[in-house]
Amino acid sequence: MARVASVATRLLAWQRRYGRRGLPWLGVRDPYRVWLSEVMLQQTQVATASAYYRRFVARYPDVTALADAPLDDVLALWSGLGYYNRARNLHRCAQVVAQQDGEFPRTSAELARLPGIGRSTAAAIAAFCFDERAAILDGNVKRVLARYSGFATDLASAAAQRQLWAYAQSLLPERGADMPAYTQGLMDLGATVCAVRQPNCDACPLRAGCVAHAGGHTAELPLRSRRAARGQRSHALLWLCHRGDVLLQRRPERGVWAALWSLPQFDDLRAARAAVAHWPGRTRELPPIRHALTHFDWQLRPLHVQLPPRTSGARREAIAAALGGRWVEAAAALRMSLPAPVRRLLAAGSSS
Ligand code: ADE
Repeated sequence: MARVASVATRLLAWQRRYGRRGLPWLGVRDPYRVWLSEVMLQQTQVATASAYYRRFVARYPDVTALADAPLDDVLALWSGLGYYNRARNLHRCAQVVAQQDGEFPRTSAELARLPGIGRSTAAAIAAFCFDERAAILDGNVKRVLARYSGFATDLASAAAQRQLWAYAQSLLPERGADMPAYTQGLMDLGATVCAVRQPNCDACPLRAGCVAHAGGHTAELPLRSRRAARGQRSHALLWLCHRGDVLLQRRPERGVWAALWSLPQFDDLRAARAAVAHWPGRTRELPPIRHALTHFDWQLRPLHVQLPPRTSGARREAIAAALGGRWVEAAAALRMSLPAPVRRLLAAGSSS
């Protein structure tokens, strides 16, 4: 029987021929840009991440520019990508690197000590920029490796993670191989061929030797314990307007949408109505907004209140103080660090 080439050899050949093209970070060796793209890609589709990546490098061409920017500006540019802790860590990490002469460390071990850079992201940066033989293991790669090896342990366990890391390490190509191509090849294979549903095994360079394929188990692997049912939450948002201004409130430093600007939030519509009961104004309930977060589905019920134009300046300020908010001109509000659903709501309101 013909001997099958190693996983690394087959993957490298496949990547050169069939790997993805046209992504703005491909072939990039600047650790600042690679780091930015990898952080964006952690929980975001390639098409969305590409657009944000281009905007970020245009606005902040190097790590010092990002470090010097106010966090609010970074959050505003990040707005819509979600998982805002990534943006906060991005800013913190940029400041740490800026203090080290703006130079990223050159090894995966040192990179992994920076804020917001996990083991797999550190390995990707080191492989892409410094040719380090470092193994990556993101969600897509876990699926590829679990299927190829017929790995039948629940991925939720720490022991399974350790074993998969060791396995990923054992598959690395030999010293001197093209580590950027190998790393990108693994990512591309997981994203385009070894898909979660209906993998395209006919096109897969690792078909020979793939335990899941041979046994017809691609649908069952990787094994994952059932997640707990998602929680449900519901709140009201107060959309208070006066002339062309809207009242915004800075969210708490911790929790959902931490430190973003948003509309004042209440437990329910009754509480929102009670808050505005003694002010004159036209009040309207708007259709609920559904927003999925990592651990729960959120229903947001906007209550739109238009204060009469003749409302005095003193009254406006008393209302802002009572709500712990600030009046902002509607167009300026859209440039602030708003959560995406709130931005959509305000944008729809300002165009109607
Ligand atoms: N997902 C994570 N990193 C990636 C990369 N460099 N290219 C495409 N998708 C990715």
